[in-house]
Amino acid sequence: MINDLWYKNAVIYCLSVGTYMDANGDGIGDFQGLMRRLDYLHGLGVTAIWLMPFQTSPHRDDGYDISDYYNVDRRYGSLGDFVEFTHGAHQRGIRVIIDLVINHTSDRHPWFRAACRDRDSKYRDWYVWSDKKPPWASEGMVFPGVQKSTWSYHKQARAWYFHRFYDFQPDLNTSNPHVQAEILKVMGFWIQLGVSGFRMDAVPFVIGTKGPKARKPVEQYDMLRMFREFLQWREGDSIILAEANVLPETDMEYFGAGGDRMHMMFNFQANQHLFYALAAADSRPLVKALHATKPRPATAQWGMFLRNHDELDLGRLSEEERKVVFERFGPSRDMQLYDRGIRRRLAPMLEGDRRWIELAYSLMFTLPGTPVIRYGDELGMGDDLGLPERNCARTPMQWSTEPRAGFTVSNKPLLPVISSGPYGYRHVNAADQRRDPNSMLNWTERIIRMRKEVPEVGWGDFEVLATRDPAVLPIRYDWRNNSVVFVHNLDASPREIAFSTGLESERSRLLVNLLSHDHSHAGDDGKHRLMLEPYGYRWYRVGGLDYLLKRSDIDVETRR
Ligand code: NOJ
Repeated sequence: MINDLWYKNAVIYCLSVGTYMDANGDGIGDFQGLMRRLDYLHGLGVTAIWLMPFQTSPHRDDGYDISDYYNVDRRYGSLGDFVEFTHGAHQRGIRVIIDLVINHTSDRHPWFRAACRDRDSKYRDWYVWSDKKPPWASEGMVFPGVQKSTWSYHKQARAWYFHRFYDFQPDLNTSNPHVQAEILKVMGFWIQLGVSGFRMDAVPFVIGTKGPKARKPVEQYDMLRMFREFLQWREGDSIILAEANVLPETDMEYFGAGGDRMHMMFNFQANQHLFYALAAADSRPLVKALHATKPRPATAQWGMFLRNHDELDLGRLSEEERKVVFERFGPSRDMQLYDRGIRRRLAPMLEGDRRWIELAYSLMFTLPGTPVIRYGDELGMGDDLGLPERNCARTPMQWSTEPRAGFTVSNKPLLPVISSGPYGYRHVNAADQRRDPNSMLNWTERIIRMRKEVPEVGWGDFEVLATRDPAVLPIRYDWRNNSVVFVHNLDASPREIAFSTGLESERSRLLVNLLSHDHSHAGDDGKHRLMLEPYGYRWYRVGGLDYLLKRSDIDVETRR
């Protein structure tokens, strides 16, 4: 297969304009500020930016409540600034994907207002109504504890409307062909302005049936093919990255058996089990999750991640596993959210232990898929648990030791900059870390560079290698006559392990370390023996660096 599907081997960096950099001094990040940081992102080596919602919005859910799909929120700049930004990104070889939030609108959207004002409005049927309160209205909330119902009464409309999320986010009636046509129009609009695709928000809810009788929604998977077809005709190399926290048995429905639906999905299974692996120093459930999510079309890709802008959802773990993760990473009530997750940033969860943080990132970067990193994690930024819900992990980017971390000159940043404690901007900021060769920032830059040099991870097939120790996870990837092996020690104590690469050829006797000088030579029995330090990790190319000369244009039998 040709290998110009860019998303198969990308490094995606997720950021929110409002908390990245403020150029006009009003305390809110904007596109001009972001423009000025493009060289930083270029230097870091990321190949794509995922921009969180920036369209016109009352901002009651960080922009996931849109009131005009065809505009940039004034706080962030203009459409002109946006196009300058996508152009600037392209000039540096960076693609831009944006959030597509079309499960719901803001309740201030003119469509919803018109629908409420007038029963006969053409927009009435763009939303989901019931004359009576459905008996199951207190079920299915996404934000339990904050949200009490999925149906609310609207006085002016004289009816109940459905909202899977907050009550100010009325669900669009996505089965309505007019709504579907509008969704395509929204996609077409932003594609024309230079984006390379979309992170589609809340996909299972977008395609699920809705209405007073849809207590158990049925997914209409064909809609996914419609979105993809439209997109691909408009711009052949653009993609959809689906946010769908679903069970492995439905993965293929989302990807499409012929690879004709979603190009990418976030791997929530791997994500949750990865945190269990970190909490318990036990790789077994993670390995199970990797195997369960292995089947996918050759053109499809997983998005691998550690933390994102939401809580770390642990809902897919067993009761016991969840307990272990809560105890280790979110023991106090204020660290937990929605009865299912942890709202902290990565570095504080891992106790600021650099070895542990590197291990977590190294592992995530070498799981089968494309890595997605979150702004600030490259510095080891912390959180502010004094802020409500998920805002605690959405504080402004820490650029320097200048006032308010160089994020803004205003005294009133959108969210407070973290200024005290070990994660305060005087200790954790990009300017200082840029100067320090051993900083987290420079480590991240180096690991991204090396990750790009091992396309085997994005493209290849993987095999988990056997060891006797569940705290150690060795994985081999094969692609086009080349193999790489990654070994991670999840434990805080050193480990001694022996493993076989599973390859029969002579070349597998030598494993060349890609990150340091300690290469591994197999013993007489063909096994590699390693002494791994606490949280140690190794990246190896099998057979030697020159083996790249033997990379083939097609997949050949690599086992020999
Ligand atoms: C998922 C987003 O990631 C989250 O931040 C948002 O609140 C909901 N969808 C609603 O759009």
